[in-house]
Amino acid sequence: MPIPVIGTTQVYGILGYPVSHTFSPPIHNLAFETLKLNAVYLPFKVLPEQLKPAIEGIRSLDIAGVNVTIPHKINVLPHLDEITPTAEKIGAVNTIRNEDGRLIGTNTDGLGLLRSFQKFPFSPKQKTILILGAGGSTRSAIVALAEAQAKTIYLINRTIDKAQKLAEEFSPIFPDTSIEVTTPEKLKHTPIDLLINTTSVGMKSSETPLDLNQFSQIRHVVDIIYSPQKTVLLEQANTLDIPFINGVGMLLHQACEAFQFWTNHAAPVTLMENELLKLLKS
Ligand code: ATR
Repeated sequence: MPIPVIGTTQVYGILGYPVSHTFSPPIHNLAFETLKLNAVYLPFKVLPEQLKPAIEGIRSLDIAGVNVTIPHKINVLPHLDEITPTAEKIGAVNTIRNEDGRLIGTNTDGLGLLRSFQKFPFSPKQKTILILGAGGSTRSAIVALAEAQAKTIYLINRTIDKAQKLAEEFSPIFPDTSIEVTTPEKLKHTPIDLLINTTSVGMKSSETPLDLNQFSQIRHVVDIIYSPQKTVLLEQANTLDIPFINGVGMLLHQACEAFQFWTNHAAPVTLMENELLKLLKS
């Protein structure tokens, strides 16, 4: 039964543009309903030039919390009162909590990615990890993996310069994790505990960002793409008997972490996962 909206109902939402395809409202509303919290979660279409007034609107309308998505994750930073160290390192915010008009920004994408490894299970501690990509998702992955004490993070990207910049930025912040730019050829026989695709390759085409057949020692594969649920990369992992997961877990767990950041309640993970899988099928 949906929560009745009354005078004390707390309002949450997502700011994005476009925002019409978001899965966040149904899964967060389900969580509020399940925990019997007097709250609703709405989509807010915010054009880039309207971001500042939209953030002021959070304060003036006393909105309790929001998620922030494309294209606002970086531009929102200067409008906030406080940013968590993790979001600061990532350089992007996906979740804001309103504490009596003070807006606290955090980023749950990296933690969501780590939590999704529970399906294997896999711990990054002292492990060697190869990340494909050098975009915003790569930044979340690097910060989460280095904070979880990965031993080595290799970066491969089409535009080598971008990967190089990431390695230069993050190496001094995480001195205990070696962050190196490399090429597929150099890693053919290197033991890789985990491969993560953070590029968009495989989302709309039947391309793969890496040919797994050329590697002899990859032990786990993660593709953060969730549509399609089984990319060519994951098909290949399946054929080669390498344990793999797609991006549904990251999407789910970033939401669960945001829910907890707002409400201090553990999210009903399994219910939210089932809802998400249902939505992805429809
Ligand atoms: P996000 O914020 O979701 O991570 P992004 O910042 O646009 O998205 O990054 C997209 C990533 O996918 C980049 O690493 C990009 O490579 P470049 O840095 O060379 O642009 C990668 N990518 C996108 N399309 C690609 C393609 N056709 N082949 C290889 N890499 C691709």
